[in-house]
Amino acid sequence: MTTTTSRPQLATTVARLREILAPVRRRDEKIGLVPTMGALHAGHLSLVRGSQAECDYTVVTIYVNPSQFGPGEDLARYPRTLQVDLDALARCGADLAFAPTHEEVYRAGYSTWVEPGDVAEPLEGRCRPGHFRGVATIVLKLLNMVHADVAYFGQKDYQQALVIRQMVRDFDVPIEIRVCPTVRDPDGLALSSRNGYLSPDARRRATVLWKSLQLAQELVAQGQRDARTIARRMRELVLTAEDAQIDYVALVDPGSLEPVDRLTGRTLAALAVRIENTRLIDNCFLEC
Ligand code: PAF
Repeated sequence: MTTTTSRPQLATTVARLREILAPVRRRDEKIGLVPTMGALHAGHLSLVRGSQAECDYTVVTIYVNPSQFGPGEDLARYPRTLQVDLDALARCGADLAFAPTHEEVYRAGYSTWVEPGDVAEPLEGRCRPGHFRGVATIVLKLLNMVHADVAYFGQKDYQQALVIRQMVRDFDVPIEIRVCPTVRDPDGLALSSRNGYLSPDARRRATVLWKSLQLAQELVAQGQRDARTIARRMRELVLTAEDAQIDYVALVDPGSLEPVDRLTGRTLAALAVRIENTRLIDNCFLEC
């Protein structure tokens, strides 16, 4: 595990990335990959630490991938904070940052896309058509560029992790996928690069996402097993926040993401809510 506080090496081209990684591979070191879109927060850094705990060398990719944003989404305003991100990566001792340009990633004439399967259809897939096609494509490209042994993703983007696991399985990509726990602010709001869009008042209202997930957990602990009742109570709580608009509140099977009627085992509660024009997602497991 690396403990240096110097800046990670920076590569902006695939050729340079491979040049830096060649001796690492010759030393037979285990390589961990943390794909990000930058604007790094403690959630990303926990993925870096996850990698450092089991790998010899940690690569963090920083790339705001246009193909996973739909028309009218926040591609233009998505925070781009490369220097601050490199400082944060230096403090936690990441070894290499890969921050390619769009031209490097989608070279002139680029025309190949990954079409993810059923698990990409519901929830985020329904609200953000084409999103997972963009995610799966860029992640496959990053996996091919870095050739890491293990890649780390956060549970907040649970469906994304399922889509990637399925893709890795279907395309025989030799990598292990780890899904690490969501990191939260003390009031429960899941860390997200998009939280920075929220005004102080909206930031306070955004805690309804976590509160509604906690309510679901409490209802299950009290013996409630009817998914529709739990989802209704979650929706009612979310709508107590002024201007909250619900994209979905769903109780689903954690493997297939199919809706469940009655809770009979581990269930995923997931929701997407817009607060003051910022779209937030969160989820948790309900155990019974
Ligand atoms: O989760 C993200 O930040 C992005 O979707 C990812 C995995 C880096 C792909 O652009």
